[in-house]
Amino acid sequence: MAGATTAMQAWLGSRAQVRERRGMQRGTEPQGILVDLASNDYLGLSADPRVIEAATAALHQFGAGARGSRVVCGTTAAHQDLEEQLCLLTGQEAALAFSSGYTANIGVLTALGGPGTLIIHDAHVHASLLDGIRLSRSPSLEVAHHDIAAIGAALAGRTQPRAVVVLESIYSVLGDAADLSAVARLCATFDALLLVDEAHGIGVADQGRGAAHAAGLAASPHVAVTATLSKALGSQGGAVLGSPALREHLVNTARTFIFDTALAPSAAAAAARAAAIVRLEPELAGRVLANAAALAARCGVPQAAGAVQSIPVESAARAAELAAGLRTRGVSVGCFRPPSVPDGVSRLRLTARANLTEPELEWAANTVAQAVESAAKDGSA
Ligand SMILES: Cc1ncc(COP(=O)(O)O)c(C=O)c1O
Repeated sequence: MAGATTAMQAWLGSRAQVRERRGMQRGTEPQGILVDLASNDYLGLSADPRVIEAATAALHQFGAGARGSRVVCGTTAAHQDLEEQLCLLTGQEAALAFSSGYTANIGVLTALGGPGTLIIHDAHVHASLLDGIRLSRSPSLEVAHHDIAAIGAALAGRTQPRAVVVLESIYSVLGDAADLSAVARLCATFDALLLVDEAHGIGVADQGRGAAHAAGLAASPHVAVTATLSKALGSQGGAVLGSPALREHLVNTARTFIFDTALAPSAAAAAARAAAIVRLEPELAGRVLANAAALAARCGVPQAAGAVQSIPVESAARAAELAAGLRTRGVSVGCFRPPSVPDGVSRLRLTARANLTEPELEWAANTVAQAVESAAKDGSA
């Protein structure tokens, strides 16, 4: 009956009030912004005419949607080209495209997991990895951020025949890097698989080839990689990279691959073109790191490993206030609060982009630095 409040509506209303009180309300409004330090378009490729042109050509050739799952009728030449380009960029033997990075992570973890697979993960891994671990029904163990000794102890003491260690190469909120070489050595010693989420590594680390490539782990039998096409590659979608046997296993068992409509061919074509651009123009990744260094220096934080710079803020409410204030002044920044930050520390998340001009970068960095400094003074007054 219109006008009556259902139990569900009452509950939704009370949850919204709690979020509002704690400064935890999120929104989805489009933003008219002068300088974007919030998006993950690290190389500016989402608006690159060559990427748009590739997507447009695929729209005309294949239509707006994939029309079915990859294993039914959804695989097109654009998907095949994308997987080839991802292998050329990262040095991996095989790639499988998914409809998002989220579904790639859930797909690979559920396909590899189960009672016979122990999954060990860093406390700061992304929600999609945590969801994949939960859905896999594997025994799992969380270790403190970067605690390599704890990973070694868990691997040494395991009773399951198989084990997977899950990390991000460059962490999405903190912006710091995992020691992939050390963890890969442990995985080789204890016959485990290291699964590295390179959402923030590909396109940025090692001239865009990613941190696994930088560590010489691209074709290691003990390493597999997941990627998103929606950050440095400027498009939409995700992928798992590794051995041909892993790819074949996923095609046959990964539920988020089999029971999901394939990635739109235009998104696949855009990401394929972007991957080729990253490979052929390694200076793009260099520019991101140079801009990240300038941003970190002006904001008084140590430079992180990739495009993401993280500024801790005393409370969730203060972080939300700072981000909102900056938005009114024309700078868009990310605002990360619990539960997105497992250590409970709210943060402003700034992303450097290769296509920020010098004046844009200087103005935006100064605006952020002044806002943070004056918030700190208010806080200590
Ligand atoms: C580390 C990490 N993994 C996976 C994802 C999910 O990727 P997508 O947005 O393509 O679903 C993200 C996106 O925020 C991420 O930061």
